[in-house]
Amino acid sequence: MSEPEPAELLELARSVAREAAELLADGHASAAVVQTKSSPTDVVTQMDRAAEELIRRRILRARPADAVLGEELGQTGQAGDGAVRWVVDPLDGTVNYVYGLPAWAVSVAAEVAGIVVAGVVCAPMLGSLYTAQLGGGAWLESAKPAGRHRLACNDGVALADALIATGFGYEAPQRALQGKVVAGLLPRVRDIRRAGAAAVDLCWVASGQVDAYYERGLHDWDLAAGSLVAREAGAVVGGMHGANPGEAMTIAAAPALFGELHDLLASLEA
Ligand code: IPD
Repeated sequence: MSEPEPAELLELARSVAREAAELLADGHASAAVVQTKSSPTDVVTQMDRAAEELIRRRILRARPADAVLGEELGQTGQAGDGAVRWVVDPLDGTVNYVYGLPAWAVSVAAEVAGIVVAGVVCAPMLGSLYTAQLGGGAWLESAKPAGRHRLACNDGVALADALIATGFGYEAPQRALQGKVVAGLLPRVRDIRRAGAAAVDLCWVASGQVDAYYERGLHDWDLAAGSLVAREAGAVVGGMHGANPGEAMTIAAAPALFGELHDLLASLEA
């Protein structure tokens, strides 16, 4: 099997993410909650499912042998031996979507041998499409300012001056712990933002709209595409004590701020 070209994977990710974002934007008025997951406030609409079905259909039509991991429908296919695995959040920020708040996004990443080589986060109500290819930089296509802009995360920001994004899980015990950590953090930083969509938070680190982001409890689909965008914009994205980013913790920031925030979070037992 020939090595898949990251640029082709990126182009496919870009077109399916845009198409799914359009479906979601058009279907917003008829969106209804059809299921709850980890808690009564962790909701799924029929539009989450419709978007994931569309993304899967489009990817598998173009690349039938690939594996797909999606938030709503789980994993299909095998990802071994240099095969591609797509990691998809069809609607990141479902609660924002249900409330008519603009920070929601479609997140599509392509992994080869476990490494994300292409990622797209499409946030249509923010007029923002973020793309990244491994080694090719992070980019924002936006309506205002119009065009395609290379992204670089904020560098040289001290923790005390940092605007820090975070998010909270859906389950009460986890939220109680996350609240304690935020209480410890607030007096030590400029301020906190809670946008409600992890993929958007990671892209805002890349674009410098926040200085850093951290969250416990993320899944692969929340972070796969956004992490590549943040890394390609110069951020470090990792977990605690050298671990990979993931469910236990995800932190994203320029290298020096990453270290400061990591140590503060460690002292707060985040
Ligand atoms: C959620 C959002 C939210 C984050 C949660 C995620 P979903 O994803 O990204 O910002 O705080 O941890 O689960 O449920 O809207 O796809």
